[in-house]
Amino acid sequence: MKVAVLGAAGGIGQALSLLLKLDLPAGTELALYDLAPVTPGVAVDLSHIPTAVQVKGYGKDDLAPALKGADVVMIPAGMPRKPGMDRSDLFNVNANVVKTLAEAIVEQCPKALVGVITNPVNTTVAIAAEVFKKAGTYDPRRLFGVTTLDVIRAETFVAELKGKNPADITVPVIGGHSGTTILPLLSQVAGVSFTDEEVAALTHRIQNAGTEVVEAKAGGGSATLSMGQAAARFCVSLVKGLQGVEVTEYAYVEGEGEHARFFAQPLVLGKQGVERLLPIGSLSAFEQKAMNEMLPTLQADIKLGEDFVHNA
Ligand SMILES: NC(=O)c1ccc[n+]([C@@H]2O[C@H](COP(=O)([O-])OP(=O)(O)OC[C@H]3O[C@@H](n4cnc5c(N)ncnc54)[C@H](O)[C@@H]3O)[C@@H](O)[C@H]2O)c1
Repeated sequence: MKVAVLGAAGGIGQALSLLLKLDLPAGTELALYDLAPVTPGVAVDLSHIPTAVQVKGYGKDDLAPALKGADVVMIPAGMPRKPGMDRSDLFNVNANVVKTLAEAIVEQCPKALVGVITNPVNTTVAIAAEVFKKAGTYDPRRLFGVTTLDVIRAETFVAELKGKNPADITVPVIGGHSGTTILPLLSQVAGVSFTDEEVAALTHRIQNAGTEVVEAKAGGGSATLSMGQAAARFCVSLVKGLQGVEVTEYAYVEGEGEHARFFAQPLVLGKQGVERLLPIGSLSAFEQKAMNEMLPTLQADIKLGEDFVHNA
């Protein structure tokens, strides 16, 4: 098994790579690629941790060997937000980063499972899909926008509010990965109940949790440690699936297109990537209204990515 991290020297990349060094199954090869000159050093540093995961660093001219034969590729490469920016402000820089990396995936590991972390995820996933489609390698079961952070944040905030252990709380989060497109389904949380005011406040907090971190870091970037954990959990689930252990996760994928071409939803991971999509269940009136209101934004975000590749 080979896992490649593209953007491995960044805030998310380093946290993710550390957790993968600890959590991937014995015998896995972990390939770390980044443009930053520190990348070989990050790999050497991690290689001193005594686990049976072999780490190798690749500098900016070595994207091809980093990707060659990879089974899973995680992409946290690109610019993070600063205070006052929303995720769509990152489009101009990050669209090209994702396009370039997707083109290399087509050449080196067209069958890999690909997890896109680079924002704006609503759009960058559509960019990767269109690059793969153009090359004739696209398989919607193998491309994921990583939205695990929305799920873990929702679970943490609900547990905090209700005095529960976060490990005992499950919160479905569907839709997309920015602002109001992030839709937590609090009506489906088992074992707790909420007042209307709590639903409104929690939904708002979950949707704006990324901004909470951006503002607290005061210009120093966005979520990296919690995102590293979220991405590692999702990557390990992808690997388990490839090894034949079915795992349920939420991710932003091309599903049946009932709401939008790409939509974050529950799914079962397996040997093909997405083994099957799971239903989102019934929505409360509040959630249905929020969904109706956010869909045009999500659809426009997707179209922006599609057009970016077609008009290139
Ligand atoms: N999906 C999510 O839930 C989520 C959460 C937080 C942040 N993000 C996004 O993840 C991305 C990375 O955030 P970060 O805080 O780690 O940023 P960072 O600036 O700390 O790291 C980004 C890294 O990407 C590298 N990079 C840039 N272009 C590259 C390329 N073409 N090839 C390889 N590497 C390249 C940089 O050298 C840098 O090391 C941002 O776009 C951010 O918005 C996503």
